[in-house]
Amino acid sequence: MGRPGGPDVVARVQQASDLVAVVGETVVLRRRGKKLWGLCPFHAEKTPSFSVDPERQLFYCFGCRTGGNVFTYVMRRDGRTFPEALAYLAERAGIPLEGETGRPGRRARLLAVLAEAARRYRAWLADSERGRAARAYLHERGVPAEWAERFELGYAPDGWDALAVALDRAGFTVEEAVEAGVLVRRAQGGAYDRLRHRLVFPIHDPDGRVVGFGGRALGGEEPKYLNLPDTPVFQKGQVLFGARWAREAWRTAPPVVVEGYFDVLAAHRAGVTSAVASLGTALTADHARYLARFADRVILCYDRDAAGAEAAARAFVVLAQTGLSVYVMEVPVGKDLDESLARAGPEAIRRAYAAAEPYLARRIRQEAYAVRVGAAEKAKALRALMPLIEAVADPVERAGFLQLVERVWALDHKTIAQALRRGQGAGNNSRNSRHNMGRRQEKNGLPDDGIILLGLLLQFPDGLEGVLTTLPELCSDPRWVGIIEHWEDVGRMPVALWVETLPPPARELATAALAEDIDWPRSALATVVERLRRKWDEERWNTLQARAAQGPLDAELEAEIRRLWPRIRAAKQAERGEG
Ligand code: UTP
Ligand code: MN
Repeated sequence: MGRPGGPDVVARVQQASDLVAVVGETVVLRRRGKKLWGLCPFHAEKTPSFSVDPERQLFYCFGCRTGGNVFTYVMRRDGRTFPEALAYLAERAGIPLEGETGRPGRRARLLAVLAEAARRYRAWLADSERGRAARAYLHERGVPAEWAERFELGYAPDGWDALAVALDRAGFTVEEAVEAGVLVRRAQGGAYDRLRHRLVFPIHDPDGRVVGFGGRALGGEEPKYLNLPDTPVFQKGQVLFGARWAREAWRTAPPVVVEGYFDVLAAHRAGVTSAVASLGTALTADHARYLARFADRVILCYDRDAAGAEAAARAFVVLAQTGLSVYVMEVPVGKDLDESLARAGPEAIRRAYAAAEPYLARRIRQEAYAVRVGAAEKAKALRALMPLIEAVADPVERAGFLQLVERVWALDHKTIAQALRRGQGAGNNSRNSRHNMGRRQEKNGLPDDGIILLGLLLQFPDGLEGVLTTLPELCSDPRWVGIIEHWEDVGRMPVALWVETLPPPARELATAALAEDIDWPRSALATVVERLRRKWDEERWNTLQARAAQGPLDAELEAEIRRLWPRIRAAKQAERGEG
C-alpha cells in the first residue's frame, strides 16, 4: 500500500481525527464505562455491540468482529482505499498532503464545470416554459417530481448553445467545458452543447460530486441515451450510476446491479436502495473490485431478454473472479425493473429482491430443464456452464456448484472433470485468491484462544519466538504472518498506529485482541500456548485418522502420525490424571 504522506503525515492526520467524532457523524454513541457504544454500522443489529475506545482511538464490534482505527473505519464505512481514507481525513482536518502533483486545480476546475452544468440542467427542468416537455416525459413514465429532484435530474434544452452560454457567463473557458465533456468543439472554432433536448441524469462519484451525465432522448431519436465521453474525472469503466445513494445501504445490504438508469430509480423507489447500474458498458473488473470493498455478495438484475442474459453471464464471470458471491434477482414483470414498478408495483420488486438466489444454482437448474433428454444438448449446456463454474474464485463454493451439477444432471465426477478440462483455456481464470482469503476467513476468526494469545503477546512482545517454536502453524495463517512481519515495530509506536500498518486480515485479528482488554500475568502465555498446541494436535490427529480409515497413507503422513502419537497419549493421560 503506497503511503502518500509518509508516517509523519499519517500520525498527524490520525491525531487530528478524533475517532469518536468521525463515528459520531453517522452513529449515535452512548458512554458506558470507558467506552462508547452504538449500533454497528457494518452489520444489522438491534442492540449495540459496536464499541469505540476514545483513549486508544480504536473501534471494535463484538457482533461482526470488525475493528480498527480511524483510517480503517473510514475505509470500511465509505469503501475507500488507505490513500483515499488518508486524503479524506486530511482534508477534513485541514492538513495539506504533499505530493499531489499533476495539474493541480485542473480536476477541481472540471468538477466545477460539471457542478455548474448540473445546476443549469436542474433549473431548466424546473423552468415552467423550457422544462415542460421533459416534465411531461417524466410524468408519462410515472416518475414523481419528488424522485426527479432526489436524483437531481435535469433537462438539456433544445438548440445548440444554452449550456455553452451559461458556462461562459459563469466564467469557464470553452477549453475547460470541452475537456469536461459537456461541450463539443466545432471545426471552425467555438463549441456547442453535447446534450440537447434530453432528460439529463447526473452521474456522481460516491462522495456526491457530479462527474458526468447521461441524456435520455424524449422521443425516438437516436441514440436513446447519450453519455458524456470519458474524461479525466469520468471513467465509465469505474463509475456506477447510483453509488452515491447506494453506498449507505451497502454497509448492511448487498449491492444490486441493474442495467439502466430508470431501473436504478425503480429499485430505489421500491426500497431496494443498494441498486446501481454501469453506464451502458459491460461491468468491468474495476467495478467488481470497488463493490468488493463493501460486500462479499452482489445481486444481478439484468433485463429479461437475450441481451440481458448475455450481459449477466459476462458480469457474473467478472464478479466471481473477483471473489464475490453472485446472486440473481428475477425481474418480476416485463423487461426490466422500471417496467415492473409501473405494472406490478414496489411490493413485487421487494419480493423478487428477497427471493434472490445464487446465480449459478439458478443457471444449473434452468439448463437442466432446457436439456431434458438430448445428449448433444446436454453436452452443449455443460460446455456453456463450465467456464462460469470455473470463474468462481472460492474453491469450496466452486465444489458446491459442481456437486449441484452432479446431482441435478445425474452426471458423475469423471465426466464433469473432463468437461472442466475442455472448458479450460476458454476463459482466463486468473483468480484473485488473496482477496478471497481476506474476507471469507477473517470473519470466522481464530478460536478465542488465538485472540487471547495475541493479546498476551502484545503485553509481552519478547515471548513471540518461544510461541512460534511451539506453534509453528501460526506461520501458515495469513493473519499471523502479517502480524509477525510487523512485530519489530511493536512498542516502537503507539499501538493504534501499529495496527494501521498491518495488512487487513492481520489488522482484524489485532484489533480483536486489543478489544479483549487482556491484562493477565505472563504465566498465562504458557498456559494458552499449551492449550492451543493440544487442541491443534487433536484436530490434526482426528483428520489423519479419518484419512487413514479411507485407505493407506503415504509415508509422510505415516511419519506425522508417529510423531503425533506420543503427544496425544501424554495429553490424554494428563486429562485423565487431572479429571
Ligand atoms: P436499455 O436499452 O435497456 O434501456 O439500456 P432502458 O434502461 O430500458 O431505457 P428506457 O427504459 O427505454 O429509457 C440500458 C442502459 O444502457 C445504456 C444506458 O445507461 C441505459 O440506461 N444505454 C442504452 C446507452 O448508454 N446508450 C444507448 O443508446 C442505450
Ligand atoms: Mn427500461
